[in-house]
Amino acid sequence: AYVVTDKCIRCKFMDCVAVCPVDCFYEGENMLVIKPDECIDCGVCEPECPAAAISADSDPAAAPWIALNAEYAALWPNIAEKKEPPADAAQWMNVDGKFESAFS
Ligand code: SF4
Ligand code: F3S
Repeated sequence: AYVVTDKCIRCKFMDCVAVCPVDCFYEGENMLVIKPDECIDCGVCEPECPAAAISADSDPAAAPWIALNAEYAALWPNIAEKKEPPADAAQWMNVDGKFESAFS
């Protein structure tokens, strides 16, 4: 499956949602996650994300976030249509430590 990493936090552009053929994204307040058993590994979302927040689970960048995607996809509501990103989304691109500030 593909995995949403911490780069999504507070960016949440949702271009990924617009292209996913199986609607396997789930929405938290600050980021989205992918439900691993629904993702068909098509890969079309990866290049669509302006924040480069999506990686294949075989990519080392995804490893720390695989469990988080599975855990929160079971808790958060499905999102099947792109919404308006946060007004300050661009300011949060490539900022370090976003997980610590959003999940503590
Ligand atoms: Fe959806 Fe394909 Fe991305 Fe999986 S890889 S989340 S199926 S767009
Ligand atoms: Fe997040 Fe990128 Fe989608 S910032 S909401 S993974 S387009």
